[in-house]
Amino acid sequence: ASAPIEVTVDSARPGSKIDRNIFGQFAEHLGTGIYGGVWVGKDSPIPNVRGIRKDVVAALRTIRVPNVRWPGGCFADEYHWRHGIGPAKDRRVTINSNWGGATEPNSFGTDEFMDFADQIGSDAYISVNLGSGTVAEAAEWIEYMTADPATTAGKERAANGHAAPYKVKYLGIGNESWSCGGAMSPDHYVDVMKPFARFVRNYNPAQAADGPGAMQRIAVGPGDDNLAYTESVMKAWKAHDWAWSIEGLSLHRYTTGGGWPTTQPSTGFDEGRYALMLKETLGMEETIAKNAAIMDKYDPAKKVAIAVDEWGAWLAPDPGTNPGFLRQQNSMRDAILAALNLNIFARHADRVRLTNIAQMVNVLQSMILTDKEKMVLTPTYHLYRMYLPFQDATFVPVTFDAGVYSQGDIKLPRIDAVAVRDTAGRLWLAVTNLDPARPARIAARFPGLQVRGAHGEVLTAPRVDSVNSFDAPEAVVPRPFAGKADKGGLVLDLPGKSVVVVRIES
Ligand code: AHR
Repeated sequence: ASAPIEVTVDSARPGSKIDRNIFGQFAEHLGTGIYGGVWVGKDSPIPNVRGIRKDVVAALRTIRVPNVRWPGGCFADEYHWRHGIGPAKDRRVTINSNWGGATEPNSFGTDEFMDFADQIGSDAYISVNLGSGTVAEAAEWIEYMTADPATTAGKERAANGHAAPYKVKYLGIGNESWSCGGAMSPDHYVDVMKPFARFVRNYNPAQAADGPGAMQRIAVGPGDDNLAYTESVMKAWKAHDWAWSIEGLSLHRYTTGGGWPTTQPSTGFDEGRYALMLKETLGMEETIAKNAAIMDKYDPAKKVAIAVDEWGAWLAPDPGTNPGFLRQQNSMRDAILAALNLNIFARHADRVRLTNIAQMVNVLQSMILTDKEKMVLTPTYHLYRMYLPFQDATFVPVTFDAGVYSQGDIKLPRIDAVAVRDTAGRLWLAVTNLDPARPARIAARFPGLQVRGAHGEVLTAPRVDSVNSFDAPEAVVPRPFAGKADKGGLVLDLPGKSVVVVRIES
């Protein structure tokens, strides 16, 4: 057996607060992400509340989704909100030209989305159409959602069933405007974005004033390491006056395991492909660091947040599915990939205050897969449940020598670890063992604390490509896990390819 890996948890030096919104999600009109995955319609035999699946809502409530980004993605820059309000029979049927040319019935529109967000207990992140829409259309949309019921816009909303103003916590001003959102140069985007930041107003009295509850505007930022948008948007922000501002900069970074089009399979992959994906995903650290360095130049007080509002594993579509629907399975590997990214976000909690994994149901690295009445929770879902104590917790520094896990030419850290103090003051430690074969013994020290033990859960599986299927939904699920007290510290025995989250008892 190899020597234990020493991990020191310095609970006397608390760091930044980890905004719970780093656990946000993304639900685009894409494939069966909305239709089938969330919305089945009021007359469906699948149990639903006002057309929204009960099973999916119950599962999402459990993981306390802090915010959900909607309606896209690329879809957002061609979305016209008026197609999706009012009596169902009058709604326009359109074509989803971004995603497989699918028919878009518009039966899931603004009021249905807000109902869904409310049912799962989540805040709304609305991405407005900057690409093919106008400032006026976007302004009227947010007015419809947030205006006083005494106004014409508020009366229209009330006539559609919701008298009280909705809360719109985040406003996305365009999506990937360097590509599907209009192929704009960074400076052109800045000029187009400013009137949206100025005129798209939130009238909800609880949000209208500046302050912590106010709507936060997220401008388009970089995709991967293309930093030109970061420079242009932040330079403009530094020079902004009373007339406009933004509170966040979007960053998109997917893990594809070798560029586009994506070819990495979501099942039946070997250890070489496993290691390749993890190596690429760890590049999130450098991407954030590079962007944060540019932002620090213009905004040393860190007023503008990085919003990693699309990230995750983007793999080859499942065989036999419409390639435009981006349907992929989700394995133990993907849960480890999610843990590594969440750990990176936690370490950058001073700047990264919002993220949205792509996507929520049936699309890319999803939490949930459905097929008609069937539903299964993915390993990524379980990882999100295990990380619940991290929501709004305080970062606690952890030092360790990670060791090396080698696979062919690829060298990776053998373990990763983060710790937090939760909102109730309890200390938590999360450790990931990347090595699929070698168990890892962790000797954890907690200077200043006498530790009596640790309890929590471990997520592991027989293989890195183990998945949960409709036939075997519990192949990858968390199991109880305990650490042993040892000389005032702890010993944790992690199996290969595992994530452990434990509460430290002192
Ligand atoms: O999440 C799928 C797509 O990926 C989004 O629509 C787009 O913003 C990105 O390219």
